[in-house]
Amino acid sequence: MAEEQNDSRGDARQSFYAKQQLIESARSAFQLLSAVIKNATLYPEAHPFLLTSADKLRIKIESMLTNRKEVAFYLVGGELFFETFSVPIDQTLSLLMEQFIARDIGGIAFRPGLKSLELIRLAGLINKEPEFLTGQSVANDVIVKEGITHIELQRVLLVDKDMGSAIKEGKKKASEIYKDAMDAVKDMIQAVQMDKTASLRKMNTIVQGMVDFIMDNRDALMGLSCIKMYDEYTFAHSVNTSILASSLGSFLSFEKQQIAALGIAGLMHDIGKVNVPHEIINKPGKLTFDEWEQVRRHPVEGALLLAEVPGLSKLAMVAAFEHHQHGTQGYPRVAGEPRLHPFSQIVSLADAYDALTAARVYYSIQMPVDQAIKILLSKRGTIFNGVLVKAFVNMVGMFPIGTILKLDTGEVGLVKHQTRDLLRPRVLLLTKFDGSEKETGVETSLLETVGGKYKRTIVGTINPYEMKINIKKYLE
Ligand SMILES: [Fe+2]
Ligand SMILES: [Fe+2]
Repeated sequence: MAEEQNDSRGDARQSFYAKQQLIESARSAFQLLSAVIKNATLYPEAHPFLLTSADKLRIKIESMLTNRKEVAFYLVGGELFFETFSVPIDQTLSLLMEQFIARDIGGIAFRPGLKSLELIRLAGLINKEPEFLTGQSVANDVIVKEGITHIELQRVLLVDKDMGSAIKEGKKKASEIYKDAMDAVKDMIQAVQMDKTASLRKMNTIVQGMVDFIMDNRDALMGLSCIKMYDEYTFAHSVNTSILASSLGSFLSFEKQQIAALGIAGLMHDIGKVNVPHEIINKPGKLTFDEWEQVRRHPVEGALLLAEVPGLSKLAMVAAFEHHQHGTQGYPRVAGEPRLHPFSQIVSLADAYDALTAARVYYSIQMPVDQAIKILLSKRGTIFNGVLVKAFVNMVGMFPIGTILKLDTGEVGLVKHQTRDLLRPRVLLLTKFDGSEKETGVETSLLETVGGKYKRTIVGTINPYEMKINIKKYLE
């Protein structure tokens, strides 16, 4: 037994060193790339200095290619990743990353067969004005034209600022982003259960896309987060918490990198539930004291699991540990008054809101949608940070996107966007209130007036399950 333990510790040590070596190789490859790009500004294409530096880079990449199909780097949230590992960057590398970001390059992959001349040509293209690459809808077509066939550039999922629509390659619908995020959580949970390294690269790319989307059009993704799913509750809850937490970060004008960290923290906050028996998590009835004790372990289990994921922001671990540590009933208990990281406070608010709104379908409790907001407001300053609750309510409105409203005109409206008045959102008129669903397809603001009086006013909310309205189709 003791021997076995020694062995596994030895293995762990070996894999630790192998990982460190790999990270070091990745860092030096990126440094060599930076040198080639710099030299290309100083010397002509055939100059021996430039050739030597390109050769060095090629040889480095070839050595890394011996046991993999490609050598790929990713730039996510201000960090450089090689495979699932975060590569420490110095000033030279961060300058190079800035150059890439200014050209909408979110990743670069090198394939076997790479030639030094291709590296020199790529350096030449990167040294042109940023517009040269960003102006081209397909950057890879440009590099192929230059005879570069063993390097591939990956676009950052960026949003066209003028048109408000995603650029061709990155264009995804809110529903696709939502689905991708669900898949990422499923993958992550599966990986953790099977004791495999989770694909952080995939998750980072998805969160990056989500953050870009949220910064451009928060309402579309928030609309999807209000659709509650019966079957895939755990996954959907993680994605919703992620959307709401990063949306709040965006609403509070956080830096993009912080918004992305909130997105990841939201996705991972309940990961510790994989170590709680399935029957307990899905038990419809009341939990026994013992079962409850097991559920209460999920923040600790989650933090332990996340601590093991290489390259993951430590904030995700902190948020997983702290997301239930509020109020007198909070857990896990710590000595003294818990002082939560602001990110944990945001995740815990998003978590609570999603759980409250989910409850009405999940446990068939008839809770009007706006009731969840009232509950959060009532816990302002006790369980939740007062300022954050206020910001959250300003963001989602008193009638969140997806709420079905009964209007004083006898019409039924679906909330599509918030306006400056939290009680008067923009709505899509669905039908007259006679129980049948008949689209009118007219979108209108409840701020609209006729002769100095409001045209429509909210008189109540309607449970979509009672009226059998498929809100999903209006929010995609
Ligand atoms: Fe939780
Ligand atoms: Fe949760």
